Amino acid sequence: MQIIRSVKDLEAVLQQYEEINFVPTMGNLHAGHLSLVSEAKKYDGITLVSIFINPLQFAPNEDLDIYPRTEKQDLKELEKINCDVVFCPEPNFAEGVKKLHANSDLSKKLCGISRPHFFHGVISILNHFFQLIKPKNVFFGLKDYQQYLIVKDFLTQSTLKTSIHGIPIVREPDGLAMSSRNNLLTPDQRLIASKLSVILKDTALQAKIKNLEHLRVEGIKKLEELNFKVDYFSFCNSSTLEEIDDFEENTLLAIAVNLGGVRLIDNYLIQ
Ligand code: PAJ
Repeated sequence: MQIIRSVKDLEAVLQQYEEINFVPTMGNLHAGHLSLVSEAKKYDGITLVSIFINPLQFAPNEDLDIYPRTEKQDLKELEKINCDVVFCPEPNFAEGVKKLHANSDLSKKLCGISRPHFFHGVISILNHFFQLIKPKNVFFGLKDYQQYLIVKDFLTQSTLKTSIHGIPIVREPDGLAMSSRNNLLTPDQRLIASKLSVILKDTALQAKIKNLEHLRVEGIKKLEELNFKVDYFSFCNSSTLEEIDDFEENTLLAIAVNLGGVRLIDNYLIQ
């Protein structure tokens, strides 16, 4: 496995290969990230993973400084699953990046309401990676469903010939969606956190037969009783993220909460 830190070295490696399957990450890798890499390996060409904690997607009051950094362990995990190339750019990689705006309809909803800078930061850094790498395929987790939709939209509008693949959410045995932020929870909070996925799933399974607003109010109440601060609890159209009042095919239930200062998101596609 090749580990590359400079753009110059990356360009030299890229010259040798035609088809690049790219998995962008911010490191602190878990089975969710690794499932993207396993999927990428099914395609012809090489698998390239990036590890870069992108400062552009964090607001000054957010958790950039405490975001877990575990590069040595991450590289071991990637080596084990035969990843071909890992790109770990230096912190100044984000300097001078062209600032882009994510699709405003999609980026203003859900996470975009409390984190208005977030998707613009994500799209700006991804555009920088994509222009350098010109990947054939890119792989994104459906855990960050809104991010997946926004990147998909961005690629549709761009001249890049890159296909995007959305990969199912990988969960802990108790149902909690895997996330690097789970490591920031205390053991007590970690126990409570598992209830998020239970409430998500219970609510989603009743969506076809019960009033959605009633389910929403009940769901928020249950979460607040467990000390979650609810950012959003939204039944929405899974393509436009427009809030819906009545169940329709492919409704997405998306939830974001804060537990003891740790932001957790999860979603369920109700088919
Ligand atoms: P990060 O949070 O490290 O996630 C990298 C990729 O792993 C994303 O596509 C995310 O959706 C996916 N992922 C995370 N947890 C997952 C899980 N439990 N199951 C399946 N996939 C999961 O998302 C980012 O980094 C950044 O915004 C990035 C795209 C790298 C841009 O900086």
